[in-house]
Amino acid sequence: MIKPATPVLDGVRAGLRPLLPSDRDAVRSLLLEPEVARWWPADTPGHPEAEIYDGGDEWPSFGWAIVEAGSDPLIGILLVEETIEPQYRCAGIDLSLTTRAQSRGLGPEAIGLAIAWLCAERGHHRITIDPDAGNARAIRAYEKVGFEPVGVMRAYSTLPTGEHRDGLFMELIRVPPNPG
Ligand SMILES: CC(C)(COP(=O)(O)OP(=O)(O)OC[C@H]1O[C@@H](n2cnc3c(N)ncnc32)[C@H](O)[C@@H]1OP(=O)(O)O)[C@@H](O)C(=O)NCCC(=O)NCCS
Repeated sequence: MIKPATPVLDGVRAGLRPLLPSDRDAVRSLLLEPEVARWWPADTPGHPEAEIYDGGDEWPSFGWAIVEAGSDPLIGILLVEETIEPQYRCAGIDLSLTTRAQSRGLGPEAIGLAIAWLCAERGHHRITIDPDAGNARAIRAYEKVGFEPVGVMRAYSTLPTGEHRDGLFMELIRVPPNPG
């Protein structure tokens, strides 16, 4: 599969633009902020930063920079990993905002932009997200967009300390009625 060209998507208060090599330092700083690293530890093997910058063109994952509408500086990242087998087609997303951009409603707006594009342009009907089960703010933010909890995945993630954390698997389904 060829990585899709990541578009610029404009919302009212938030926007998405392609991640650039020049964003690397901003992404690194973002991932080291305590309010982000608490939920998305930056030194975990396989961390998204490595996926963004070191993934090959054949890897079905890509990322956007989240920006304030009409502005260019990165205030967050939104990552997508597509499952491309036709029978199981779906897109998993993940995101984090820099601390000063949190709790202002920008996350759900950015997610809404990504979902609209993934459904309209990439043909997805099922979007998933998997916050830490204790991340009440994230869970609330995702519910506002329309994600529904499916179930708790026990010992889903492992922190650098070795502690296992539960994850909450959530999904958002956008399907037309079945034919017939
Ligand atoms: C999670 C995140 C993307 C959400 O985006 P956001 O723009 O901050 O979310 P919003 O401001 O729209 O919404 C947060 C909601 O949670 C609520 N909330 C905040 N703290 C809460 C808490 N401790 N418990 C329950 N709800 C909480 C807010 O009241 C708000 O709901 P409301 O609009 O009904 O009042 C963002 O906060 C973030 O990046 N956090 C740090 C890293 C992180 O957790 N990443 C997620 C990895 S899955």
